[in-house]
Amino acid sequence: MNRKRSPPSRPEGRPVDRSIEPVRDRIVHGDALETLRRLPSGSVHLAITSPPYNVGIAYQGYSDDRSQSGYLEWLGTVWRELHRVLVEGGRFALNVAPTSIKNFQPIHHDLSQDLRHAGFVMRTEIIWYKQTMGRRTAWGSWRSPANPHIVPSWEYVLVFSKGTWRLEGDRSKIDITAKEFQDFSDGHWMIPPERRRHGHPAPFPEELIRRLVKFYSYRENLVLDMFGGTGTVAAVARQLGRHYLLVDASAEYCEVARARVDAARTSDGGLPVPPPDRVWETDQLDAAEPPVERAPAR
Ligand SMILES: C[S@@+](CC[C@H](N)C(=O)[O-])C[C@H]1O[C@@H](n2cnc3c(N)ncnc32)[C@H](O)[C@@H]1O
Repeated sequence: MNRKRSPPSRPEGRPVDRSIEPVRDRIVHGDALETLRRLPSGSVHLAITSPPYNVGIAYQGYSDDRSQSGYLEWLGTVWRELHRVLVEGGRFALNVAPTSIKNFQPIHHDLSQDLRHAGFVMRTEIIWYKQTMGRRTAWGSWRSPANPHIVPSWEYVLVFSKGTWRLEGDRSKIDITAKEFQDFSDGHWMIPPERRRHGHPAPFPEELIRRLVKFYSYRENLVLDMFGGTGTVAAVARQLGRHYLLVDASAEYCEVARARVDAARTSDGGLPVPPPDRVWETDQLDAAEPPVERAPAR
């Protein structure tokens, strides 16, 4: 069901990026690939995501245990669609954790190779150091080279670009400070895992997303998470004055995300980004009209 909306009104002289209007500031319940297929080409500036890892995590309404080849093949189709919807120079930050010590699978290597095959240029990898050594119990063969374990206390953020490394943008929409820029460009980020789970088994810490959004995008860019869970990327994007688009296969997570993004007001004097009006279904996107732009709050 689509509601009729009046045409957007906006202050005179403000340039409008028409390519992102039909899709921005939405929470979409549906499949990542199906939803990407409905997005206009060249409409997203930054995608940040953490896909299901295929390790049997109990997500709402999704089975996380496909065959390894079927899983990578499916993600390969997602990467190709993502490449299409990114603008030239658009970025993709993929969070991936090393898999468990038993049955170790170097999935980060598989994924970086598949993404390059899908046309992306790999630009770096960030080590997200989670400082979780205190909790470890599995040492393998204690104090012996017979079979010692390394238990990963880190995750990766693999970063890619579409086409060129450079993302064109308006210099007045840069909001990173010199100190932040210096700190973030050291690719070893010490950030504890998220404690507030919002009913999700694997939420991002907000600080991780804040750094990626500030480092890799301009204010008013469109930031996408197509495996968006309970909405960390969308909420942080809105707080930082970026437009957002979240997709998740779970209706329950989408509802949590809607409330979270609604509460995440734009700060730092940026142009206010609208809250999500409701949770959309993927098949409603084709007929979607641009969201009405609200007057900035004074
Ligand atoms: C690792 S979690 C992401 C959590 C998110 N980063 C957060 O901070 O809440 C992966 C998410 O992908 C969703 N998912 C699984 N299969 C999907 C699909 N085919 N399309 C869209 N979302 C899917 C799951 O419901 C889960 O929320």
